[in-house]
Amino acid sequence: MSHLTNLTLKVWRQNGPQDAGSFETHVIDQISDEASFLELLDVLNERLITEGKEAVVFDHDCREGICGTCSLMINGVAHGPKRATTTCQLHMRSFSSGDTIVIEPWRATAFPVIKDLMVDRSAFDRIVEAGGYITAPTGGAPDANLIPIPKPVADAAMDSAQCIGCGACVAACPNGAANLFTGAKIAHLNLLPQGQAERFKRTEAMVETMDEFFGSCTNHGECSAACPKEISIDVIALMNKDYRSSKFKNRKELSRG
Ligand code: FES
Repeated sequence: MSHLTNLTLKVWRQNGPQDAGSFETHVIDQISDEASFLELLDVLNERLITEGKEAVVFDHDCREGICGTCSLMINGVAHGPKRATTTCQLHMRSFSSGDTIVIEPWRATAFPVIKDLMVDRSAFDRIVEAGGYITAPTGGAPDANLIPIPKPVADAAMDSAQCIGCGACVAACPNGAANLFTGAKIAHLNLLPQGQAERFKRTEAMVETMDEFFGSCTNHGECSAACPKEISIDVIALMNKDYRSSKFKNRKELSRG
């Protein structure tokens, strides 16, 4: 184990959505290269509290890369310099002594800053509420082999289900689009037999809710590159295909009464 010394942190401080906000500079004298990025912020906050100052507000929960709450722009990159890694799984060994690290919240119109590094991601909840579920009586657990699913289909659905809803895709997108998130949430249900009954209603409702809050996709691909779960941009193609079909199928169903 070694230590990094003299890290300069430029941390975004913002006292609520209406505040203009600004960077605050702090120097961390010494930290283990085994510390996680969130532990770096813990160290900073302990010092601020000891000095009678207000701690930096940031989101976190599992600290294991599964909940999706940690959400920081680190040196201008969503979740920092390590590919396929959430902020909580990023360690100080990815940096060097003497580095300056710029720490900001997600920058997206649909994710207003609540305070400091914490943003409001409830626009994602609105998309999921619009159709990110199946309607079925739960009952007891059915036999796993009751509905045969081809392995490639199951794999593709599970790959999409890896989305942890962190919002890095939106933060990385120059348009602030949420197509990767919405595509992943749609794909993991639309690919499976259990998701077929509501497939086109779900797709239409989720895509149109997404459009209310987020920008439009112009295929930059930054979303997929920033995604800590490496969700493929293919989910966007599937979503667009199903959205187009939904416009015919849902209207046809309506006209049948
Ligand atoms: S804190 Fe849960 S994914 Fe980072």
